Amino acid sequence: MSRASRIYRGTPRNLAMLAGRLRKGGLVAVPTETVYGLAGDATSRSACVGIFRAKGRPRGDPLIVHIASLRDLGRVARANPAALRLAARFWPGPLTIVLPKTGLVPGEATAGLPSVAVRMPSHPLFRRLIRLAGVPLAAPSANPFGYVSPTTAEHVRRSLGSRVTHILDGGPSRIGLESTIIDLRDPGRPALLRPGAVTRGELARALGMPVAMSRRPAARGRAQVSPGRMRRHYSPRTPVTLHNFLSPRMAAKGRPSDAWLFIAKPAGNAPVRGGNVFWLDAKGDLRRAARRLFATLRSLDEGGFRRIHVERPAGAGLAEALADRLVRASSR
Ligand code: TXA
Ligand code: MG
Repeated sequence: MSRASRIYRGTPRNLAMLAGRLRKGGLVAVPTETVYGLAGDATSRSACVGIFRAKGRPRGDPLIVHIASLRDLGRVARANPAALRLAARFWPGPLTIVLPKTGLVPGEATAGLPSVAVRMPSHPLFRRLIRLAGVPLAAPSANPFGYVSPTTAEHVRRSLGSRVTHILDGGPSRIGLESTIIDLRDPGRPALLRPGAVTRGELARALGMPVAMSRRPAARGRAQVSPGRMRRHYSPRTPVTLHNFLSPRMAAKGRPSDAWLFIAKPAGNAPVRGGNVFWLDAKGDLRRAARRLFATLRSLDEGGFRRIHVERPAGAGLAEALADRLVRASSR
């Protein structure tokens, strides 16, 4: 029989109880500033296996290991000066760094890879929980494999259901997109594995060298080195069509059973029909758009539309991260 899931507020008593659960190898869904995660003791083989099972995630897709202090970086990874520079500049925050792993991190966490992805999150409740647990916490996004990442505790409850019994509520995720991932195994050749709120330009400035977008394809039957290569990641069930250009006219001429999602509110006296035209932020502010993206895709998915048409943001910086998630949501 499966037990129902429960959402806990971040009281000292609840945090102590959830930390105890983590120390015993149990799983807890946690709030982070990017998206909600499904956390377990990163040093425990069985906890890591439990994470893959709960998500229905293929074993070849490695987990991110979360730490609360810079001292813990050396416990899980072999850092280099470039990594320390990025850590000093962007941690705690939405940046994950891939480095050679230490023996403390089992292959179950890294899908057998000799490297580990490490992040120091900024969400105060998650940080407190890592400290109380006393171990680094492995946590992928807390969604069933392939579906849109959760940005509220309620999203976790609704999509993972009884597969996660303990959910810590830390409010809506402030950033709303998964962390930027940079590969620094070779510090002379930094590679961006996933764009996010820490932008490629910011990374290049901090490192003093350009950061290439990784083009390495996933090797079949082996652990995936570049997460972005997986098709149909982050997808709603409703088919998504991405448009480089979207106009209110297109929406007005289209089928009423299709949804039209703009980045900004379409201008003025345009023929906007009520009920199937949506936007992420009235003014098109990309930070606010990113914060709302996954929740909006979820609610459109539940809206019974035949298809979701989405406008692709152009440009560098956060637009690159938003476009990346939309490309994945639209690939079938
Ligand atoms: O913002 C985030 O990063 C969230 C929160 C919970 O921290 N986590 C997250 O985890 O998005 P997940 O598992 O959904 O995505 C992590 C990605 C995976 O696609 C995986 O392939 C990649 O990180 N990854 C993990 N370890 C890696 C490694 N050693 N080398 C290359 N990629 C790695
Ligand atoms: Mg994920």
